Amino acid sequence: MPVIPEFKISSIPLVGPIRFARDPLRFLRRGFDECGDTFKIRLFREFVVTRDPAFFRHVLQQHHKNFKKGNSVKMLRPVLGNGLVISDGDFWLRQRRLVQPAFHRERLHDLFITMGELTATFLGELEAFRGKAAIDVDAKMMGITSDIALKTLFGNMNTEDKEQIYQQVSRTQTYLVTRVRKPYRLPLMAINGEDRRFQSDLAYFNSLVYDFIRKRRLSGETPNDLLQLLLDSKDEDTGEQMNDEQIRDEAITMFAAGHETSATGLSWLLWELSAQPEVVARIRAESAVFDTVPGFEQLMQMPYTRQVVEEGLRLYPPAWTMTRESTVDQEIEGYAISKGTSVFMSIFELHRNPNLWNNPSAFEPENFQAETVKNRAKFNYLPFGAGPRICIGQQFALMEMQLVLAAIVKRFDFVREPGYSVGMHPQIVLKSTNGIKLKVV
Ligand code: HEM
Repeated sequence: MPVIPEFKISSIPLVGPIRFARDPLRFLRRGFDECGDTFKIRLFREFVVTRDPAFFRHVLQQHHKNFKKGNSVKMLRPVLGNGLVISDGDFWLRQRRLVQPAFHRERLHDLFITMGELTATFLGELEAFRGKAAIDVDAKMMGITSDIALKTLFGNMNTEDKEQIYQQVSRTQTYLVTRVRKPYRLPLMAINGEDRRFQSDLAYFNSLVYDFIRKRRLSGETPNDLLQLLLDSKDEDTGEQMNDEQIRDEAITMFAAGHETSATGLSWLLWELSAQPEVVARIRAESAVFDTVPGFEQLMQMPYTRQVVEEGLRLYPPAWTMTRESTVDQEIEGYAISKGTSVFMSIFELHRNPNLWNNPSAFEPENFQAETVKNRAKFNYLPFGAGPRICIGQQFALMEMQLVLAAIVKRFDFVREPGYSVGMHPQIVLKSTNGIKLKVV
């Protein structure tokens, strides 16, 4: 049986992890350049790293029962509890069945109306920055997508709570990523206040969400939001419902999984479009079908804008990686994978794999013309994962991104400042190194 090539960095123990923490994308690219589409690497523990679509298919679909999320998501457990992103096995399956109806097509139609209203208000707010200094586009996109996520999840929430949540989520992400990538900083974090800050952020967040659930149960009202769907959903076989803790876990999971991903995808798109006047012109031509924001049916009349969104998610996949742990000894693509092995699937590298894409690092919406898509193997493009654990919010996110992008591009131009470079730095999602800063004109 062939042996998986090893990407050896240095015989000095901490050099690999430090280089990885400094620039994960460059580090992994070197591994692929030296070893091919699959290699193993030791970073505190051993990983098999891949950008081979056959590996993705094996792990996510064909033999998904031989894998669990395991260690890779443990770091998120304090925040996401036992929600869908974290859970495994029978518990996951039961929860998935309970949550899935929230994302049915008719439901999305209702949620789309809320998205449109919030986007229209957001456009008005963006006017204040027209012609002024460059703005932090990522912060603005986080603003609109967290407004959308909070409103579609919890109905109304006051501005002060919203701002608190927004700040805490960014802080918490930095904290969690630091713990995993730089474990040598743990002792320092215990005494410099970072651990305490995290605990108090979490306590505030929990009390806010539990308070929401309790008030909703007491109010007797049944508004049209995702929280209500979670409260009402029943297991078809047993009639069982979720308790407050499960509802908290699923609601926070949806918020966490759902808003920063879309925001980051939108920010990268605006960055890319600021250098693509022809693409902008074509989006604008399609935007003639609506005035301020597109309606549900109008989205279908804007296929090119949809292609642009899909190409953005190829070149800058917000969820840049997925990890699984093998629960049995097995063979993948001829390689022996033993029980307990962690498989690190780089979506970022899959989407830029030179063996699969012509011109992998160029922004080309033509990659998503119907004919081209039909002729491409499904597992070459996976911004939302695949198999039974495919993103539950995929349609929600695509609709949201197409809506917000079309509405913004119709009304505003975005201009880069000379010499400014963004750089890519993946945290849990694929962020930029220096922030995405653009002038609104
Ligand atoms: C552009 C936006 C988004 C991207 C790129 C994205 C990407 C992904 C990916 C790659 C996975 C699979 C992870 C894995 O298999 O390890 C996933 C799972 C998930 N996503 Fe998304 N997502 C997005 C938006 C959303 C939204 C809007 C929601 C909810 C409102 C959401 C909720 C979830 C949940 C709950 C899971 C776990 C599903 C399960 O394991 O059963 N995501 N997402």
